[in-house]
Amino acid sequence: MFKTLKPQPADKILALMQTFRDDPRADKIDLGVGVYKNAEGVTPIMRAIKAAEHRLWQEQQSKSYVGLLGDPAFSDAMVALVLGDAVPREAVAAAATPGGTGAVRQAFELVRYANPDVRVFVSDPTWPNHLSILKYLNIETVPYRYFDSATGGIDFAGMMDDLQGLRAGDVVLLHGCCHNPTGANLNPVEWQSVIALLQDKGALPMIDIAYQGFGDGVEQDAEATRAVAAALPECLIAASCSKNFGIYRERTGILMAVSQDASQTGLARDTLAFLNRQNYSFPPDHGARLVTMILNDDELRADWRAELEDMRQGMLGLRQQLADELQRLTGSDRFGFLAQHRGMFSRLGISPEKVEELRRDHGVYMVGDSRMNIAGLNAKTVPALAQAIAEADV
Ligand code: LMR
Repeated sequence: MFKTLKPQPADKILALMQTFRDDPRADKIDLGVGVYKNAEGVTPIMRAIKAAEHRLWQEQQSKSYVGLLGDPAFSDAMVALVLGDAVPREAVAAAATPGGTGAVRQAFELVRYANPDVRVFVSDPTWPNHLSILKYLNIETVPYRYFDSATGGIDFAGMMDDLQGLRAGDVVLLHGCCHNPTGANLNPVEWQSVIALLQDKGALPMIDIAYQGFGDGVEQDAEATRAVAAALPECLIAASCSKNFGIYRERTGILMAVSQDASQTGLARDTLAFLNRQNYSFPPDHGARLVTMILNDDELRADWRAELEDMRQGMLGLRQQLADELQRLTGSDRFGFLAQHRGMFSRLGISPEKVEELRRDHGVYMVGDSRMNIAGLNAKTVPALAQAIAEADV
């Protein structure tokens, strides 16, 4: 039977991770996979996570199953973190999932289950795994214009134009903050226009929020998601704890189905439990429990917020340093957008050939579409990167 299997293309981001590891050059720079690194190039375990793990080790008495939706306390804590008081708690059905990717996958499963002919509108570009999962599930995708590589900003007129093609029941995938892969984000006024259009068309927003706290701050980064949830009759939100709690391998995420009609919440909740059961039964608990402990403990929460804020400030500083350095070396403001972008990523806007050249000649690893992980830099590597970009004459 196995001989009938078809080889699958490697995931470009994960393949790049391996190529980087195999490169013997000591001065190589990893701007690939979206994993936060500190100035020493280490992905640290956050202090609050360590403290919560210690406490959990002492207090936990059983590893028995929790529930198909995960621990309700995790759902409560995460709904509060992401949605604040934008909608009543009863309006939200939530299921813990294996990471943000698990939430994305379950969301697509849910919309296909509700409507086998559903179309999902996706930004051009979007995270490649969105497209891969949609294709795998045989869901029709419709791209909408998003990034303007000439300016490094958003082609908002193009985006709105393309979203005019929405039909009632279509799904629009939006990045809640820190757009992956571009780093370019809608401003609050633009979000309001998108919300009005979705209301007008009867389309369902699905928000992927994987970097809350990496952009403008924990509360600020959730504002758009909250505005969407409050304004639309229904929406789906896939949230990840991988990055903002630094617990990547623990696979901690959540899918929320928000409905203004509270009578629908029970059905949505039962469907989320059913989908979890079909795919992997009980979601992982360890990371979710740590997150719950942190969010429900004033001291741990304050420390988590402080460390996350330091990480965010560090990335902002690197953005500004890189933009300034490129300004100095090229004599142009062409890369000024790097300081305006938010989150872990920026798309530089150079060709795949130039990306390859940077890797070959300078040991700089970025994804083929020229997405850079800003957190892969430090104050010492920024000048080297700027020099390499200027030399490549991009
Ligand atoms: C990324 O975009 O690099 C991260 O979200 C990691 C991944 O799974 O691709």
